[in-house]
Amino acid sequence: MEGHRMKSALAALLLGIGFAGGLTLPAAAQSSVRVGGPVAEQQIDRDAPPVPTQIPGQSRADTWHGIRLGEQGTVSIPNKQAGVLIQSEGEAWRAVRNGPLSQYGSWVLGGILALLALFLLVRGRIRIDGQKTGRTIQRFNAFERGVHWMTAGSFVVLAISGLNVLYGRHTLLPLIGPEPFAALTHYGKLAHNFLGFAFILGVALIFVMWVGHNIPSRHDLTWFLKAGGLFSKGVHPPAHKFNGGQKVIFWATVVGGAALGFTGVQLVFPFSFATLEELQLYQLAHAAIAVVMIAIILAHIYIGSVGMEGAFAAMGDGQVELQWAREHHSLWVEEVTGEKVRHGHHRGTPAE
Ligand code: HEM
Repeated sequence: MEGHRMKSALAALLLGIGFAGGLTLPAAAQSSVRVGGPVAEQQIDRDAPPVPTQIPGQSRADTWHGIRLGEQGTVSIPNKQAGVLIQSEGEAWRAVRNGPLSQYGSWVLGGILALLALFLLVRGRIRIDGQKTGRTIQRFNAFERGVHWMTAGSFVVLAISGLNVLYGRHTLLPLIGPEPFAALTHYGKLAHNFLGFAFILGVALIFVMWVGHNIPSRHDLTWFLKAGGLFSKGVHPPAHKFNGGQKVIFWATVVGGAALGFTGVQLVFPFSFATLEELQLYQLAHAAIAVVMIAIILAHIYIGSVGMEGAFAAMGDGQVELQWAREHHSLWVEEVTGEKVRHGHHRGTPAE
């Protein structure tokens, strides 16, 4: 009982200080909340009358209205944002993050995995249709491959550690328990903060290296109209170094990567460039763009590995089977070897 009365008096005192001092509306914002000042040293008199919880001449509803609108009082500690008692946008931010963002995000990621599994089941691995030549041509040099793997390696760690921040608490934590989860999340966050810069550098270099090969052309239209031949055996629409689908991957990497980099830097250095409200928006944008980009990259990883015979070598040792190149990049083969390739021919074999 004694303890209860003390708590009530303390609560009333704190409320009184808040309302009378730091949380006043601008016209009355003369006084300030002092932390560790005379108020903190003051002895609590249990028999004292209750401290008024209202600014004279102003209704309690008005005061609360101001607080809910994020009215800023004054504080003498360095963190001036502590003058805001309730930042109502924070509730909206949390509701969107834990609600639609997580929900739609899981649908997008689950959806792409299901589609890729279905595609593998129905279409199987896309084989080299024609006779293999036993000869190879160079597709990417060591520098290009190094940049690709730096970007890919950092992206994979960023994706896993990022998804852990968004979903781990409800998926991984019950599976592995609090201590391993805490350690994993701690190191994951460190990795996320640092690898973000390797990813940004990788995306910038990818842009410089390959933008020349990724300007849209009329062949891309044909490629899309034939769905790249992905759904039909023996159909190979002509393409230069990159086909329409790869150009989509390229621009998604560059535009999505730039957006992730920009919003990510804001979040790694909070309040350096953005206010709290802006940071909340950047966080939502960062997570939403990341989910879409992970879905796109999952499709890219699939087609660059199990999905298509002969593709991985391009980023492995950089040498691809000549027949693979004739089928998937006929115009590029003509450019680099000078040979005439029968474009779109179902066997993809050379004309002469
Ligand atoms: C981690 C697994 C990955 C694998 C197995 C993989 C595989 C490949 C392969 C084989 C190519 C060459 C395709 C060709 O010769 O036509 C390629 C190209 C490319 N990769 Fe990756 N990649 C991976 C991750 C990534 C990531 C994470 C990004 C970017 C965030 C990325 C961006 C690109 C881009 C922009 C190209 C050129 C355009 C294209 O071929 O689609 N890759 N990748």
